[in-house]
Amino acid sequence: MATLGRLKGKVAIITGAGRGIGYGIGRRFAEEGAHVVVAEIDRETVYKAAEDFSRIGPEALAYPVDVGEVEQTRQMAADVMQRFGRIDILVNNAGLSEKATLLEITPEQWDRTLRVNLRGLLFCTQAVVRQMIACIPEAVKQAGRADRCYGKVLNLSSIAGRRGRADAVHYSVSKAAVITFTQSAAIELARYNINVNAICPSVVPTPMWEQLARQVEEREGWPSGEFFQRRVERIPLKRAGTVEEVATIAAFLCSSDADYITAQTYNIDGGSEMN
Ligand SMILES: NC(=O)c1ccc[n+]([C@@H]2O[C@H](COP(=O)([O-])OP(=O)(O)OC[C@H]3O[C@@H](n4cnc5c(N)ncnc54)[C@H](O)[C@@H]3O)[C@@H](O)[C@H]2O)c1
Repeated sequence: MATLGRLKGKVAIITGAGRGIGYGIGRRFAEEGAHVVVAEIDRETVYKAAEDFSRIGPEALAYPVDVGEVEQTRQMAADVMQRFGRIDILVNNAGLSEKATLLEITPEQWDRTLRVNLRGLLFCTQAVVRQMIACIPEAVKQAGRADRCYGKVLNLSSIAGRRGRADAVHYSVSKAAVITFTQSAAIELARYNINVNAICPSVVPTPMWEQLARQVEEREGWPSGEFFQRRVERIPLKRAGTVEEVATIAAFLCSSDADYITAQTYNIDGGSEMN
C-alpha cells in the first residue's frame, strides 16, 4: 500500500482506535506521519494500540476516554493541546451497534446507542473544534476566512444511515443523523477552514461485525458464517470491504489533497448504495 507522508506532523485524535476500523485508521495515519491520539474506552486495547502506532510512525498517545462523557472529552482536547500544542484532525469513529427489532428495542438500548453514536460525536467534535479554533490567530479570524489554517473532522456513518434497516432502527437513526450533523457542522466550520466529511462503510469484518453476526445467527438458528454470506451476496462487488480500504479513504479525506471537499458523505460499500 502506497503511503505518501500526507499527514506528516499532524496531530490526529481517533475515537475508538483500539480495534476494528479505528485501529486501521490509526495505523494508516501513523504510516502517513501523524501523531495519533488513541481516544478509546477499552483499557485492554488503548495502550497497545498507541504502542503499535508509535512503532510505525511518530509518537502516539493513549488516552482512555468515554466519548459519551462530555467533561472527559473536554479534558482530553485540553490535554492533547497541552501535549502536542495543536490538533489538526478528529476522526469520530467510536460507535455501538446492537440488533433489536422495532418491537423489541428497549429505552436503555436506544439511549446507549445514541449516547455514543450521536451525543458522543457531537460533544467530542465541539470540544476538539473549540481547541482547533483557539489556535487560529485573532487577526486571521477577524478576516472572516482562515484560509491558511488546517482542520479536518471525519465522521463514521454507515450505509445503515442511507436507508432504513430491519432489526436496527436505533443504529440506523443514529447513523442517518451523522450525515446531517456532518453537513450542518461543515457549513458552520467552513469559515475556519475546517472540513467536515463522513464515510459509510457497509460490511467490514471487525469485532463489531462478528458480534452482530453471532447475534443474528443464534436468533435465526443459522450456521456460523451464514449472515456474512447473505450480506456479501447482496453487494455488487461480491465481497466485504477491508479496514485498510476504509483507512485509505480516511487518510485522503483528512489530508490536504481533500482541502476542497467538505459536507460530503462517501459510501465505501462495493456499490451497495448509490446516493
Ligand atoms: N464494521 C462495519 O462493517 C461497519 C459498517 C458501517 C459503519 N461502521 C462504523 O464504524 C465505526 C467502527 O466500527 P467497528 O466495526 O470498528 O467497531 P468495533 O466495535 O470493532 O470498534 C469500536 C471501538 O470503539 C470503542 N468505543 C465504543 N464505545 C466507546 C466510547 N463510549 N468511548 C470511546 N470508545 C468507544 C470500542 O471499545 C472499540 O474499540 C463505528 O462507528 C461503526 O458504527 C462499521
